Amino acid sequence: AKERTLSIIKPDATRRNLTGKINAVFEDAGLSIVAQKRMQLTPAQAGAFYAVHKERPFYNDLVSFMISGPVVVQVLEGENAVAKNRDVMGATDPKKAEAHTIRAQFAESIEANSVHGSDSAENAANEISFFFAETEILP
Ligand code: CMP
Repeated sequence: AKERTLSIIKPDATRRNLTGKINAVFEDAGLSIVAQKRMQLTPAQAGAFYAVHKERPFYNDLVSFMISGPVVVQVLEGENAVAKNRDVMGATDPKKAEAHTIRAQFAESIEANSVHGSDSAENAANEISFFFAETEILP
Protein backbone atom coordinates (compact mmCIF):
# COMPACT_ATOMS: atom_id res chain seq x y z
CA ALA A 1 0.00 0.00 0.00
CA LYS A 2 1.03 3.59 -0.47
CA GLU A 3 2.70 4.87 2.69
CA ARG A 4 4.62 7.83 4.02
CA THR A 5 7.76 7.83 6.11
CA LEU A 6 9.88 10.51 7.77
CA SER A 7 13.46 10.87 6.61
CA ILE A 8 16.20 13.11 8.00
CA ILE A 9 19.41 13.87 6.12
CA LYS A 10 21.80 14.34 9.05
CA PRO A 11 24.48 17.02 9.65
CA ASP A 12 27.38 14.81 8.49
CA ALA A 13 25.70 14.59 5.09
CA THR A 14 24.56 18.21 4.70
CA ARG A 15 28.09 19.30 5.67
CA ARG A 16 29.54 17.24 2.81
CA ASN A 17 26.97 18.52 0.26
CA LEU A 18 25.34 15.11 -0.13
CA THR A 19 21.68 16.19 -0.06
CA GLY A 20 21.21 15.79 -3.82
CA LYS A 21 23.00 12.45 -4.05
CA ILE A 22 20.91 11.05 -1.18
CA ASN A 23 17.68 12.41 -2.67
CA ALA A 24 18.59 10.74 -5.99
CA VAL A 25 18.82 7.39 -4.19
CA PHE A 26 15.31 7.88 -2.77
CA GLU A 27 13.84 8.93 -6.12
CA ASP A 28 15.58 6.12 -8.02
CA ALA A 29 14.04 3.67 -5.52
CA GLY A 30 10.54 4.96 -6.33
CA LEU A 31 10.14 7.16 -3.26
CA SER A 32 8.70 10.62 -3.89
CA ILE A 33 9.87 13.58 -1.76
CA VAL A 34 6.47 15.10 -0.96
CA ALA A 35 7.73 17.55 1.71
CA GLN A 36 11.18 18.80 2.56
CA LYS A 37 12.81 21.52 4.65
CA ARG A 38 16.33 22.34 5.74
CA MET A 39 16.51 23.38 9.39
CA GLN A 40 18.80 23.86 12.35
CA LEU A 41 17.39 21.73 15.18
CA THR A 42 17.41 23.15 18.68
CA PRO A 43 18.67 20.98 21.56
CA ALA A 44 15.06 20.67 22.75
CA GLN A 45 13.82 19.53 19.33
CA ALA A 46 16.60 16.98 18.86
CA GLY A 47 16.16 15.70 22.43
CA ALA A 48 12.40 15.35 22.02
CA PHE A 49 12.67 13.69 18.61
CA TYR A 50 14.98 11.02 20.03
CA ALA A 51 13.24 10.79 23.46
CA VAL A 52 12.79 7.02 22.94
CA HIS A 53 16.60 6.71 23.23
CA LYS A 54 16.87 8.87 26.40
CA GLU A 55 18.23 6.04 28.57
CA ARG A 56 20.77 4.87 25.98
CA PRO A 57 24.47 5.61 26.55
CA PHE A 58 24.72 7.36 23.17
CA TYR A 59 21.80 9.76 23.74
CA ASN A 60 23.72 12.90 24.73
CA ASP A 61 26.26 12.48 21.92
CA LEU A 62 23.43 11.83 19.46
CA VAL A 63 21.65 15.06 20.43
CA SER A 64 24.93 17.03 20.16
CA PHE A 65 25.60 15.54 16.74
CA MET A 66 22.08 16.26 15.46
CA ILE A 67 22.44 19.96 16.36
CA SER A 68 26.00 20.25 14.97
CA GLY A 69 24.72 21.59 11.63
CA PRO A 70 21.64 21.78 9.46
CA VAL A 71 19.47 18.76 8.75
CA VAL A 72 17.01 18.20 5.92
CA VAL A 73 13.71 16.75 7.16
CA GLN A 74 11.52 15.20 4.53
CA VAL A 75 8.43 13.10 3.94
CA LEU A 76 8.92 10.24 1.49
CA GLU A 77 5.88 8.65 -0.14
CA GLY A 78 5.50 5.45 -2.14
CA GLU A 79 4.56 1.78 -2.05
CA ASN A 80 5.75 0.33 1.29
CA ALA A 81 7.68 3.55 1.93
CA VAL A 82 8.75 2.65 5.49
CA ALA A 83 10.37 -0.68 4.52
CA LYS A 84 11.66 0.63 1.19
CA ASN A 85 13.40 3.54 2.89
CA ARG A 86 14.95 1.20 5.46
CA ASP A 87 16.25 -0.94 2.58
CA VAL A 88 17.90 1.98 0.81
CA MET A 89 19.36 3.39 4.07
CA GLY A 90 21.00 0.11 5.09
CA ALA A 91 21.99 -0.98 8.60
CA THR A 92 22.45 1.65 11.33
CA ASP A 93 26.14 0.73 11.52
CA PRO A 94 27.66 1.49 8.10
CA LYS A 95 30.16 -1.36 8.60
CA LYS A 96 27.18 -3.74 8.56
CA ALA A 97 25.30 -2.03 5.71
CA GLU A 98 25.05 -3.60 2.27
CA ALA A 99 27.23 -2.00 -0.38
CA HIS A 100 24.50 -0.32 -2.44
CA THR A 101 22.92 1.45 0.54
CA ILE A 102 23.14 5.11 1.56
CA ARG A 103 24.91 4.34 4.82
CA ALA A 104 27.48 2.03 3.18
CA GLN A 105 28.23 4.68 0.56
CA PHE A 106 28.13 7.83 2.67
CA ALA A 107 28.03 7.30 6.47
CA GLU A 108 31.04 8.23 8.57
CA SER A 109 30.22 6.15 11.69
CA ILE A 110 27.34 4.47 13.57
CA GLU A 111 26.44 7.93 14.95
CA ALA A 112 27.19 10.10 11.90
CA ASN A 113 25.24 7.71 9.68
CA SER A 114 23.91 10.28 7.18
CA VAL A 115 20.18 9.47 7.39
CA HIS A 116 17.36 8.65 9.77
CA GLY A 117 14.20 6.83 8.71
CA SER A 118 11.08 5.86 10.63
CA ASP A 119 11.07 2.21 11.72
CA SER A 120 7.30 1.54 11.56
CA ALA A 121 4.17 3.04 10.02
CA GLU A 122 3.00 4.11 13.49
CA ASN A 123 6.27 5.89 14.28
CA ALA A 124 6.25 7.42 10.80
CA ALA A 125 2.93 9.12 11.49
CA ASN A 126 4.22 10.51 14.79
CA GLU A 127 7.57 11.61 13.34
CA ILE A 128 5.94 13.27 10.32
CA SER A 129 3.62 15.29 12.56
CA PHE A 130 6.63 16.27 14.71
CA PHE A 131 8.00 18.30 11.78
CA PHE A 132 5.20 18.93 9.27
CA ALA A 133 1.65 20.22 9.12
CA GLU A 134 -0.54 18.25 6.73
CA THR A 135 -0.78 21.37 4.53
CA GLU A 136 3.00 21.27 3.96
CA ILE A 137 2.85 17.76 2.44
CA LEU A 138 2.17 17.96 -1.30
CA PRO A 139 1.94 14.62 -3.12
P1 CMP B 1 18.87 6.63 13.84
O1 CMP B 1 18.30 5.65 12.88
O2 CMP B 1 18.62 8.06 13.59
O3 CMP B 1 18.35 6.27 15.31
C1 CMP B 1 19.11 6.53 16.48
C2 CMP B 1 20.48 7.05 16.19
O4 CMP B 1 21.40 6.98 17.25
C3 CMP B 1 21.12 6.21 15.09
O5 CMP B 1 20.48 6.42 13.86
C4 CMP B 1 22.56 6.71 15.19
O6 CMP B 1 22.75 7.95 14.54
C5 CMP B 1 22.72 6.97 16.69
N1 CMP B 1 23.54 5.97 17.38
C6 CMP B 1 24.74 6.22 17.93
N2 CMP B 1 25.24 5.14 18.51
C7 CMP B 1 24.35 4.16 18.33
C8 CMP B 1 24.32 2.76 18.70
N3 CMP B 1 25.29 2.20 19.38
N4 CMP B 1 23.24 2.04 18.33
C9 CMP B 1 22.22 2.62 17.65
N5 CMP B 1 22.20 3.94 17.27
C10 CMP B 1 23.26 4.68 17.60
